[in-house]
Amino acid sequence: MFEDYPKEIMTKDGTPILLRPLVPEDEQCLADFFSRIPENERWFLREDLADPAVISQWIQNLDYNRIVPIVAVRQEDGAIIGNVRLHRRPADCLRHIAHLRIMVDPEYRQQRIGTWMLLDTIKLAMNMGIETLVAEFVEGVEDAARNAAHKLDFFQQAVLKDYVKDRQGKYRDLIIMTKTLQRDWSDF
Ligand SMILES: CC(C)(COP(=O)(O)OP(=O)(O)OC[C@H]1O[C@@H](n2cnc3c(N)ncnc32)[C@H](O)[C@@H]1OP(=O)(O)O)[C@@H](O)C(=O)NCCC(=O)NCCS
Repeated sequence: MFEDYPKEIMTKDGTPILLRPLVPEDEQCLADFFSRIPENERWFLREDLADPAVISQWIQNLDYNRIVPIVAVRQEDGAIIGNVRLHRRPADCLRHIAHLRIMVDPEYRQQRIGTWMLLDTIKLAMNMGIETLVAEFVEGVEDAARNAAHKLDFFQQAVLKDYVKDRQGKYRDLIIMTKTLQRDWSDF
């Protein structure tokens, strides 16, 4: 699954970055990464990744069969500056679907790292036999991610009205977008 890694990419300003699978040795770097993500963005994650105990529990029990985590690492010092995860359910009826969640260090945004990571994840998902990628975006909060996904042919499938609450208790819509993979092969 990971034979193509590590892969070298370059930010817009020429900083060399490596994309590679997350490994248990990354625990501290991953905790440092999530500590740099603003509270209002972390709020919408399904786990409290600001809590080192949660990260530790998760990373020490990595199961690539369920979650495939790819990180973007600054080459000069090994710091993690981006993280994307593909989640898959074990059930046969859902094995062809993966949910995607991406996050880039705020200091490195708008440097094309997110686009590189999304493109790489799409290719990886295709190699894994995934047919549909699903991504969820909170309206008014994750619009940058939604734009980026739209540019890569994710299409809106559903809107769950007032589905999540933000930190201030305000209800926000959850937008579900999908990208069909296997069938796209015929486009080439
Ligand atoms: C979404 C995210 C990963 C993008 O990462 P990034 O490295 O900044 O992305 P890129 O530099 O590759 O930009 C890709 C596209 O995103 C869009 N984009 C990025 N930042 C944006 C912003 N602040 N406002 C509007 N659009 C933005 C643009 O369409 C851009 O395309 P362009 O370069 O042609 O203008 C990053 O903003 C992030 O981590 N956001 C918080 C987490 C999140 O919302 N995750 C979504 C859940 S799946």
